[in-house]
Amino acid sequence: MNIQPKIRGFICTTAHPTGCMQHVAEQIQTVKQTLSLPNGPKKVLIIGASTGYGLASRIASAFGANAKTIGVFFEKPAEGKRTASAGWYNSAAFERKAMEAGLYAKSINGDAFSDNVKAKTIQLIEQDWDGEVDLVVYSVASPRRVHPKTGEVYNSVLKPIGQPYTSKTVDVMTGVVSEITLEPASQLEIDHTIKVMGGEDWEMWLDALLKANVLAKGVKTIAYSYIGPSLTYPIYREGAIGQAKAHLEATAKTLTQKLQSLQGEAFVSVNKALVTQASAAIPVVPLYISLLYKIMKEHHLHEGCIEQICRLFKERLYANTPVIVDENGLIRLDDWEMKSEIQDKISAIWPTLSAENIETMTDLKGYRHEFHRLFGFDMSGVNYSEEVDPNENVPSLALEPCL
Ligand SMILES: NC(=O)c1ccc[n+]([C@@H]2O[C@H](COP(=O)([O-])OP(=O)(O)OC[C@H]3O[C@@H](n4cnc5c(N)ncnc54)[C@H](O)[C@@H]3O)[C@@H](O)[C@H]2O)c1
Repeated sequence: MNIQPKIRGFICTTAHPTGCMQHVAEQIQTVKQTLSLPNGPKKVLIIGASTGYGLASRIASAFGANAKTIGVFFEKPAEGKRTASAGWYNSAAFERKAMEAGLYAKSINGDAFSDNVKAKTIQLIEQDWDGEVDLVVYSVASPRRVHPKTGEVYNSVLKPIGQPYTSKTVDVMTGVVSEITLEPASQLEIDHTIKVMGGEDWEMWLDALLKANVLAKGVKTIAYSYIGPSLTYPIYREGAIGQAKAHLEATAKTLTQKLQSLQGEAFVSVNKALVTQASAAIPVVPLYISLLYKIMKEHHLHEGCIEQICRLFKERLYANTPVIVDENGLIRLDDWEMKSEIQDKISAIWPTLSAENIETMTDLKGYRHEFHRLFGFDMSGVNYSEEVDPNENVPSLALEPCL
């Protein structure tokens, strides 16, 4: 099959197995060059492990600390004329590379919000690892959650709170800049967004892992958040998603208390805005990211997911010193994004952006390139005119049905 990108709005409905393999291989290479953690984690559970920050966390654990990993994600294998999802190919590639390196890697494909997937994961940890998980990464980004106890379906929204929000936005593929107005979220929509992207499911995971007695002494758990500049506050930090992130951050404190008997700790790391499947869906944010990339590249401060997570492991989580946090207890990996020399330039340029100057004033080209790479396209060294078999197996899932 010849596989080309098919972009619909902010998603690409195809993915390329060879390109995804290459993307994973490049991230492994970065880790090998920058991270060596003899005192790092040994048995790592990553929930949301197949793309973006979760995949980077899995790669950093395995190839930077020689850790065994179990990855949980919700991805689709190829079917008929449909390619698999990028996260499926990434996970197939990751497991192959881990196997070649003699590293244990198994995956669970299913709904992380469900009791069933939690039980299945714990069963695997008991069977293969005899417990002793020493790092739990929670990196799920989802628009929807079915509550495991009530069956209620929650949908998250990307809306401001209190009043409508009007801003510039860009269609990243065409470069058309326009103005959009987003109506405020209702209280019900805010509550639902908190149910999906807040900390309740993270806490349910830790409760289940604690109850099963599979966590090691000194266990760490981490989830990822975002704050960003005042420019995006109405849609992000002060919007419905920001309420969910505030809930996630508060959950870390609850979890640290629950982990006291194991001398464990829970953290939230505030990461940099980056092109991922999740961030592409947020109005206004892709335009901000295009400008951010341009300025951070000019200052030689640009990082991708893998560089961010390498810095997280090396300089924060496993630095052999108390973990550096801000006055609110948060790890700040967005420190470079938030530097005044970066944000001052963004504030100065933002009002001048238009369809005429967008390609020169921002790194829209770099945004598009990164977006294509998420799905295994635009990778150097891959011949996209060649036929390729879309039916790639994730080795550890080959005999397992999807949950
Ligand atoms: N991208 C950014 O700019 C950015 C910045 C800071 C923080 N974050 C945060 O990082 C976290 C991860 O986001 P990302 O951008 O890497 O997202 P992503 O879309 O790349 O990854 C999401 C992951 O969640 C998994 N997933 C989704 N629904 C699931 C379900 N029901 N069951 C199991 N797995 C499921 C997917 O399979 C995938 O592995 C989020 O909390 C996000 O808010 C992202």
